[in-house]
Amino acid sequence: MSSSEKPGVLHIYDGIEEMDNHLPRWWLFILWTTIVFAFGYWFYYHVSGTGPGSLEVYKAEAAEAARKAASGKPTSDETLLALMQDPQAVDQGKVQFTQQCAACHGQKGEGLIGPNLTDEFWLHGGKPMDIHKTVAEGAVAKGMPAWERTLGAERVRSIVAYVLTLKNTHVPGKAPQGEPEQ
Ligand code: HEC
Repeated sequence: MSSSEKPGVLHIYDGIEEMDNHLPRWWLFILWTTIVFAFGYWFYYHVSGTGPGSLEVYKAEAAEAARKAASGKPTSDETLLALMQDPQAVDQGKVQFTQQCAACHGQKGEGLIGPNLTDEFWLHGGKPMDIHKTVAEGAVAKGMPAWERTLGAERVRSIVAYVLTLKNTHVPGKAPQGEPEQ
């Protein structure tokens, strides 16, 4: 648009006639509002980090969905693997592990009196439901207590979710015992 021409003046570019009208105020208002909004949005979510990022929102929603999917369903490999994706459950499991299990299995599951839980060798099986059975029912004759009675089903599930996160982290500790998991 050439600025020398007054508003409303017709001008011609390559034979195309155009009215040099001002943009309507409402239109400009919307334009500027969106620009200001975009800066605010950018600052809130991307610069200051105040707004929750889409990844965090996604993770929270996935965790919530996992919890819903697991609750009320019988414990299975699937529900335990889903619980393993739930940071809240895993954190609860970790707290319990530190209090109840670390004395025999080490702070990181590397093994002390009890076997190393971070290798791929298992005496009682390394599948989610195998681990769940060992933790819930114990191997009492061999010195591994049964935990479902004392801690309840929910705590046992979150502990197993945590133990699943230790699997194959290979923390140096007690030598492997049992069979490698297929
Ligand atoms: C008093 C010591 C002790 C405590 C406390 C203990 N464990 Fe154990 N745990 C053992 C022993 C010993 C074994 C090996 C049993 C065997 O030889 O069959 C074992 C085995 C296991 C196994 C099976 C490992 C495999 O190779 O198959 C898992 C899983 C396990 N414990 C998890 C836990 C969890 C989770 C807790 C806490 C809730 C816990 N243990 C608390 C002593 C303990």
